[in-house]
Amino acid sequence: MTLGRRDPLNLLQRPRRNRKHPAIRAFLRETTLGPEHFIYPLFIHAGADDVPIASMPGCARLSRRGLLAEVEAARAVGVNLIALFPAVVESLKTSDGREAWNPNGLIPETIKALKDRWPDLVIVTDVALDPYNSDGHDGIVAPDGRILNDETVAALCEQALCQARAGADIVAPSDMMDGRVQALREALDGEDFIDVSILAYTAKYASAFYGPFRDALDSAPKSGDKKTYQMDPANAREALREAELDEVEGADMLMVKPAGPYLDILAELRRATSLPLAAYQVSGEYAMLKAASERGWLDEKRVVLESLLGIRRAGADVILTYFARQAAEWLTGTRK
Ligand code: PBG
Repeated sequence: MTLGRRDPLNLLQRPRRNRKHPAIRAFLRETTLGPEHFIYPLFIHAGADDVPIASMPGCARLSRRGLLAEVEAARAVGVNLIALFPAVVESLKTSDGREAWNPNGLIPETIKALKDRWPDLVIVTDVALDPYNSDGHDGIVAPDGRILNDETVAALCEQALCQARAGADIVAPSDMMDGRVQALREALDGEDFIDVSILAYTAKYASAFYGPFRDALDSAPKSGDKKTYQMDPANAREALREAELDEVEGADMLMVKPAGPYLDILAELRRATSLPLAAYQVSGEYAMLKAASERGWLDEKRVVLESLLGIRRAGADVILTYFARQAAEWLTGTRK
């Protein structure tokens, strides 16, 4: 076959005409990505030094000083929402996780320090017992191994109130107990925290992609798995049911987690609810992109921004991502 001039194909439709010029491509762009779309998850501990997390290059368990520096750098590029995750020393872990509502605990003390410095910083707190629980589960474990729903919900209310009293703006239950959104709403309203929002982890799957996070916090379950409360990766209809429940129970925003492997769930929820949607690009998604980029197998900047854009396109208003600061630096041109 000879390539070269020939008669044009007889095409009425040539979609490429709409891609022919950068200015045309610019006004046709449907999805945007900016620092305002990120929530930055940060790991903290009570130690004096930042301790790097091996399976999450670029992330560390931050000391108070390290945290303040990181938040300052993130704010400088427009990231003003953070989510805090505590690494708690073993000696404070108990079967009922009561350190979770210690008013002088790591989380409340950290919230106060952050708010002292930046009253307008938006702080999201994780509501779940796994960092505090000697069993490594999000809920209270009965002697026979069951995760006790209603007892856990009562504990989560204590935890969320403790966070709200310290100044949390958004509480985010990641535990997947039944009825916790309504119970949290009532508990918060009972103390007049009517302005504290609830970001419900609505469709949180029992995912292998949380591995590096559990390393980061030493919070892997000591026995059993999380399949009696987190969702089966095979299921989509169940996510719709969880969304309906969270909505009637008073959630302000819903979340899908993980993000990348669950974009279909995000898109379905986008059609099913008018509530804002968050997606969590979890530790394993971060680790994959980092590892391949470090080996030179992927172009880190392009692949990270594409992964985030894909999550936005599927329907997320906001993305929890460990790339928040780095991506915002790329987007604002302060990083190459
Ligand atoms: C637990 C919690 C997990 C994550 C956030 N909150 C792990 C789990 O459910 O075991 C995972 C986040 C990540 O992997 O980045 N409440």
